[in-house]
Amino acid sequence: MENQIDTQMEQRKGRRLVLFPLPFQGHINPMLLLATILHSKGFSITIIHTNFNSPNPSNFPNFTFHSIPDGFSESEASSKDVVFLAKLLNTKCVEPFRDCMVKLLSDVSEEPISCLISDAFFYFSQAVADSLKLPRVVLRTGGLSSFVVFVAFPLLRERGYLPIQDSQLEEPVAELPPLKVKDLPVIDNVDPDSYYEIIAGMVNESKASSGIIWNSFEELEQSELDTLRQEFPNPIFPIGPFHKYHLTSSSSSLLAQDQSSISWLDKQAPKSVIYASFGSLAALSEAQFLEIAWGLANSNQPFLWVVRPGLVRGSEWLEPLPSGFLETLNGRAHIIKWAPQLEVLAHPAVGAFWTHNGWNSTLESICEGVPMICMPCFTDQKVNAKYVSQVWKVGLQLENGSDRLMIERCIRRLMVEKEGEEIRDRISKLKDKAKFCLQQGGSSLQNLDSLVSHISKLES
Ligand code: UDX
Repeated sequence: MENQIDTQMEQRKGRRLVLFPLPFQGHINPMLLLATILHSKGFSITIIHTNFNSPNPSNFPNFTFHSIPDGFSESEASSKDVVFLAKLLNTKCVEPFRDCMVKLLSDVSEEPISCLISDAFFYFSQAVADSLKLPRVVLRTGGLSSFVVFVAFPLLRERGYLPIQDSQLEEPVAELPPLKVKDLPVIDNVDPDSYYEIIAGMVNESKASSGIIWNSFEELEQSELDTLRQEFPNPIFPIGPFHKYHLTSSSSSLLAQDQSSISWLDKQAPKSVIYASFGSLAALSEAQFLEIAWGLANSNQPFLWVVRPGLVRGSEWLEPLPSGFLETLNGRAHIIKWAPQLEVLAHPAVGAFWTHNGWNSTLESICEGVPMICMPCFTDQKVNAKYVSQVWKVGLQLENGSDRLMIERCIRRLMVEKEGEEIRDRISKLKDKAKFCLQQGGSSLQNLDSLVSHISKLES
């Protein structure tokens, strides 16, 4: 048996995979983790990346990196409109990406390329791959649950759920229980037609690909997986959680992670700390930021808060906080610009995660058994939050625009009351499931074997 595995590894040593991450933190992290997993299976790895938000190649000496120009102007590169940026990337990267692929494919000194693995939101790369007769496998970095909703967008538009009308926010979406209209994965203040266009590109070109990889696991999203397997002709591989493979992997963080958070956590009581972080893209109004600050302060729990520069619209960093705010809390609060989040969530002092429910954060919290306070901002985060609070029941959702009193009440329910204990029990069971799927015979490891054998059979 062992000899057979060695021979298969040897055969794959002659094969190269080209990976192409979307240049945003929540997409770069899972793609580089996937690269590490596939490298451990014997494949050689080449990463093509844009100059914009480039990962640091020196952290990954086993991979070959190729940078392509994204063609962004200075004002485009500083835009906060993710829909605009996604559309731009799918236009401006076409030629540089194609040129880079042509060079790689014609380089006889390197191993032959089995396939391209690109982010679902780099939908333009399907046509490029087709024209080069190169199979493309997709990595969808979000969950299956939100993807099912994205697949239903044409139907939701036809039936009048989209675009969302304020008068319908509380109405159920009968076709997608338990979602209400307010949970649909949209973004406020962007051009709806551009948004529908990138969602359609993402869904349709994923469907046209040679397979889709998910950073999720069967036991978490079984019924959504069944739905997609019925609707999609191509194979689907949920092989997550990627960060729990116990492989040595380097950080792909674009911002420096402040290690002072760990020494501060070391001094706190077990399960007492609220870790609050709203990911790499979300932005808050100053009024919202202040309600969060007072809600945390008034909760009487210690808190570790990531305030990313740019989190508060119109501010550099902490200027909106009243002077002396931190001092009055007597060491009960620690505010940083960016955390080593995986280490923080795994720390015994952390008792709850107040999150925007980006998919990575949601999955990372589940894997450590940390219950969540959900405050989604846009897109898939809204669906993830609904699943956390109403389907898996491992967190509480804060309604949009909650004030300091509502926040304080929510923290009490989770940290002090019986309801919180029940939530803690449920997430601890889910954590076990996340662990089992990566043990021998577990669903994700089996799906990884199927993926590796599928990729090995693809021919360019
Ligand atoms: C974006 C989208 O907003 C989200 O809807 C989609 O699901 C993924 O991409 P983002 O804001 O980047 O999400 O959040 P998330 O998916 O949670 O990813 C953030 C990553 O950064 C996580 O892997 C997290 O561990 C890491 N992180 C976050 C840090 O390392 N330090 C921090 O302080 C905060």
